[in-house]
Amino acid sequence: MAKVISGFSKLSKKEKIDWLATNFFNNQNEIIETIKQYWNADEALQRLHDDFIENTITNFYMPYGIAPNFVINDKEHVIPMVVEESSVVAAASLVAKFWSTRGGFKTKVISTTKVGHIHFMYSGNKEDLETYFETQKNNLLKATLSITKNMRKRGGGILDINLIDKTKSLTDYYQLHVCFETKDSMGANFINSCLEAIANEFRRNDIDIIMSILSNYVPECLVRSEVSCKVQDLGGENPEKFARKFQQAVKIAEIEPYRAVTHNKGIMNGIDAVVLATGNDFRAIEAGVHAYASKEGTYKSLSHCEIENGIFKFWIELPLAIGTVGGLTALHPMAKLSLDMMGRPSAPKLMEIIATAGLAQNFAALRALTTKGIQHGHMKMHLMNILNQMGASNEEKNIISKEFENSTVSHSAVVQKLKNLRKNS
Ligand code: MEV
Repeated sequence: MAKVISGFSKLSKKEKIDWLATNFFNNQNEIIETIKQYWNADEALQRLHDDFIENTITNFYMPYGIAPNFVINDKEHVIPMVVEESSVVAAASLVAKFWSTRGGFKTKVISTTKVGHIHFMYSGNKEDLETYFETQKNNLLKATLSITKNMRKRGGGILDINLIDKTKSLTDYYQLHVCFETKDSMGANFINSCLEAIANEFRRNDIDIIMSILSNYVPECLVRSEVSCKVQDLGGENPEKFARKFQQAVKIAEIEPYRAVTHNKGIMNGIDAVVLATGNDFRAIEAGVHAYASKEGTYKSLSHCEIENGIFKFWIELPLAIGTVGGLTALHPMAKLSLDMMGRPSAPKLMEIIATAGLAQNFAALRALTTKGIQHGHMKMHLMNILNQMGASNEEKNIISKEFENSTVSHSAVVQKLKNLRKNS
């Protein structure tokens, strides 16, 4: 058990790296160099990043790209995206440009309510519990007044508290279901602090509080983004055929979970990239979005398509609990830059931008899938990764990229072309 260590978090960064290199690698010097080459030269900036989590030993780079030409509610936007998949930013940019000349994206926040629960067990008389809850309700709210003070000044706070009987699903199980408005903050800490204060006030000998926690299922924190145009304005050789096939692809994702998961994964390519770039919690978003996609009992597409009276309409509706103040949004210099480039949006405005990035990504994927196939564009973008893996020089990259301008890239074809090039030079 030599590799099990106590007090690891107390070691210095150098000691942690030495311990890792000695115990888990044979090529220690190389490993230490790899780790160190990603340290930021600015020590204060590096310390800021070190302190985000425990046991930081280095940084992990992800590309930070921007997708221009998004017209959302008649206003131009550039959208920051953090993502490793080669075709995502290119696809978003292409689709943004496409819709910029067809009316742009129209968005709307439907609701912004977040929820949290006090989960507890109670085996006594239900009416007694209801009476206790009703008499306590004001005290429960009072118990949170110091926590909610600033939020109330900003127009947020606790909206409602309800007692829910869950005993049909689990013996003795009840909840306090608490609704919140958290304005521009994601509100996780605020919600959890309120819930714990409410739970303490609600506590009684015959009430066994199990836990108090926000829910990442936020079906009432909903946003919609939409594009529409005349079918004939969709362009291409046969816009009617394109629109029909596109709509069928969406319908398939509405009824076939195997397809819906991949369809929604494509949407999340856009969503997660903006969520990451703005320092928001992508795990919370992922969990909430996929739960929402299953709200009717089967997993379904988050986007929908309609063709009526010659008008093509494509839209997405999904829950997004995000923030534009507090947390990493204020601490991470790049998250701050992202918000600045979008004009410091409110949380609802950012919900609209993020939903739009998801819809654009979905449009790009479905357009490719129902026409040329996905691999054409995908492999074109992947070409640089293959060439980098093979240590190609800039000159070699230029020559090979030109050769693939009119043909589909495959790994083996790139390898062969590079071999031929090197043999002949
Ligand atoms: C790949 O990251 C995403 C797609 O598979 C999405 C889709 O199939 O709709 C292209």
